[in-house]
Amino acid sequence: MNAAYYPVVLDLHERRCVVLGDTALADEKSGGLRTAGATVVHLHRSFQPGDLTGAYLAIDASDDPEAQRAARAEADRERVLLNVADVTHQCDWIAPALVKRGPLQIAVSTSGESPFLARALRERIEMLLGEEWGPFTQLMGSMRRRLRRAGVSGDSQLRAYRRLLRSRATSMLRDGSDADAAALALAIEQGARTVEPAVPMGEVVLAGAGPGDPDLLTMGARAILADADVVFHDALVGPGVLRLCGPRTRLVDAGKRSGRRSKRQEDINAAMIAAARSGDLVVRLKGGDPFLFGRGGEEMEALRRAGVPVRVIPGVSAALAAPAAAGIPVTHRGVAASVAFVTGHRVGGDLNSLEALAQSVDTLVILMPADLEAIAGRLSAVLGPDRPSAIISQATTADQLVVRAPIGSIAAAARAARVAPPSTLVVGDVVNVLSDIGGVSAADRQMFAEAVAARG
Ligand SMILES: C[S@@+](CC[C@H](N)C(=O)[O-])C[C@H]1O[C@@H](n2cnc3c(N)ncnc32)[C@H](O)[C@@H]1O
Repeated sequence: MNAAYYPVVLDLHERRCVVLGDTALADEKSGGLRTAGATVVHLHRSFQPGDLTGAYLAIDASDDPEAQRAARAEADRERVLLNVADVTHQCDWIAPALVKRGPLQIAVSTSGESPFLARALRERIEMLLGEEWGPFTQLMGSMRRRLRRAGVSGDSQLRAYRRLLRSRATSMLRDGSDADAAALALAIEQGARTVEPAVPMGEVVLAGAGPGDPDLLTMGARAILADADVVFHDALVGPGVLRLCGPRTRLVDAGKRSGRRSKRQEDINAAMIAAARSGDLVVRLKGGDPFLFGRGGEEMEALRRAGVPVRVIPGVSAALAAPAAAGIPVTHRGVAASVAFVTGHRVGGDLNSLEALAQSVDTLVILMPADLEAIAGRLSAVLGPDRPSAIISQATTADQLVVRAPIGSIAAAARAARVAPPSTLVVGDVVNVLSDIGGVSAADRQMFAEAVAARG
């Protein structure tokens, strides 16, 4: 195996390319070469001496090993670059799996190690980059040609490309609004052409980081992290998620430390506003969903008051993910038809509304159950000590721990199991609805933990 293939994109326009063989693969190859503008000579038979004379490129897809060896020898003599289909050691070049979106082509090669893997990855990329990326690449190309012709500086060009890439142009093209996308591109281009372009206002995106497992980020959150200039992240956001940030993204740990809460929040808001005003794409990355016990609403208010454009990318909340990862459905036909999400963190220790809620819904999901003893005591008094409950800590990470016990003894059980934050408490009959019949087995949990650990 030659691991040192050098990838190139060949201009085959009007080049003589020879395809050998009377196979479906040979037909496919000659079709591909013709699409690339090559002058294709497709000989529907095995190699015969002289076939490769004057060829620029050749493919033997004949399935005839003896003839292929002869073709190989002639290619060496005639200095023709030959590909013998599926016989890597006889190839001067190998064809990558290709994602084609108009002028945009993404080639995937495993250096011949696994055509299956190349195809599988191509299919994944195809799902990520829809057909709209063809016209989008053309928009980018026209903008580049015009800005270069107009002598616009490299820096201004770069800023314009970045703005177009981050704009809604791709979604407009996906929805068929080609004219809107073109108008948007033109507006961005005109901004770059002005003699002293004003620094365009940036934007803040409040994005949900999910409960821990990087696979639980939405595609929108992943894309914005890759593009961001600066990411202000919560302390709870782990390294696996932060690795999804682009190589030039500046990371700011905006984790609030106890005792400095309100001051820190003002500082974070001020820093985000300043970054957006300097033209940055700012991502405020919050654990779970930004609008569930995440102060996302307050930050949005502050940003709007400052005139900074702000939008939200919802996230998978721990309120749903923690029970789900423990095999607890928060509703279940015949068992629970209502669920409430509450915080166990009550300033001044007021848990009265929690009691009232516990009596009116079937399932309670309690985030931030810091004083578990007090919460469980109050709920025991209202619901009886036997109501099933579970505490799930570090859900969806390799350290996930699930402790199930009646609410009357959950605090002691959690202590004994050394449950560490962050953790979520679930109270209701749903807790045992699946575990009673096997549910998520210890083996399943072990497999899940190993899979997460292997992903790093
Ligand atoms: C400040 S709240 C933020 C909630 C977040 N906005 C969300 O939607 O998940 C933090 C609480 O979320 C819960 N939490 C966050 N991540 C968790 C995880 N991986 N496992 C269990 N609970 C988690 C804990 O109750 C933690 O105290």
